[in-house]
Amino acid sequence: MLLELTSVAKSYAATDETDSVTVLKDVNLRVAAGESVAIVGPSGSGKSTLLNIIGTLDRPDAGRVVLDGKDVSSLNEAQRAAVRCREIGFIFQLHHLLPQLSVLENVLVPTLAGGPEKRTEEPVTRAKRLLERVGLSGRLSHRPGQLSGGERQRVAVVRALINEPKLLLADEPTGSLDRAAAENLTELLVELNREEGVSLIVVTHAMSLAEKMSRLLELRDGVLVQRDHPYPPGDNTPDANRSRHRSSLRVENKDDEDDDDLRGSRGG
Ligand SMILES: Nc1ncnc2c1ncn2[C@@H]1O[C@H](COP(=O)(O)OP(=O)(O)OP(=O)(O)O)[C@@H](O)[C@H]1O
Ligand SMILES: [Mg+2]
Repeated sequence: MLLELTSVAKSYAATDETDSVTVLKDVNLRVAAGESVAIVGPSGSGKSTLLNIIGTLDRPDAGRVVLDGKDVSSLNEAQRAAVRCREIGFIFQLHHLLPQLSVLENVLVPTLAGGPEKRTEEPVTRAKRLLERVGLSGRLSHRPGQLSGGERQRVAVVRALINEPKLLLADEPTGSLDRAAAENLTELLVELNREEGVSLIVVTHAMSLAEKMSRLLELRDGVLVQRDHPYPPGDNTPDANRSRHRSSLRVENKDDEDDDDLRGSRGG
């Protein structure tokens, strides 16, 4: 098992201005190498909190997080930074590229902080191969400001993969993209998950992205529950194909034009 969370709990303590918030109560999750998992849930249900804990950016109050056989919840800050750098790639809603660096330089930034013990590919070779793979071979010297939103997000995907991580964490990766760019990025994540053999955990409101993952989980009231996958990937029956555009999990919302969007589907 690549990743194993056992009884993970997390609260934010009260401050002078705020009450305490219990976000995660008892989260259990097992992700195998190469698997893809979508996590959905209402706004404020703790999806980003959970992803930060998995990504060693935050610590749980209780419970265990075991990544690739190591109990990361017991490591100190420096050790966790090393795990993060070697084993995990992050993709956020906003690309967070450095505006003064070229595409190629941006992609290579994580290699400055280290990388896997044994690389299978030299970083510049890997960067160029992956940039070509995502359709950006003609953009190596461009700066982020000279790219479209979808192109920037594809650069962020390559950057997340540069250190040959075992686990890719994506928090609303299509959240700032228009529909066409979101579909393009979704396809890319699915294909790279397979081609690069990297496990993928995606937090998303977009059902069109969520249903392409092999498992669908919902975070609700502090626990993760399995949701029925409407039609598992590979199911190419006419019903399944129709449903990919018109998901049975979607909750109708007259005020919401975006029919792929789960946001606010059950309050939050
Ligand atoms: N640093 C913090 N201090 C106090 N409360 C926090 C902190 N970070 C998050 N929270 C609270 O924890 C809850 C979960 O936040 P989180 O960002 O994980 O939700 P989310 O599911 O990612 O929501 P969204 O879909 O809107 O991104 C929210 O109610 C939020 O107000
Ligand atoms: Mg969030």
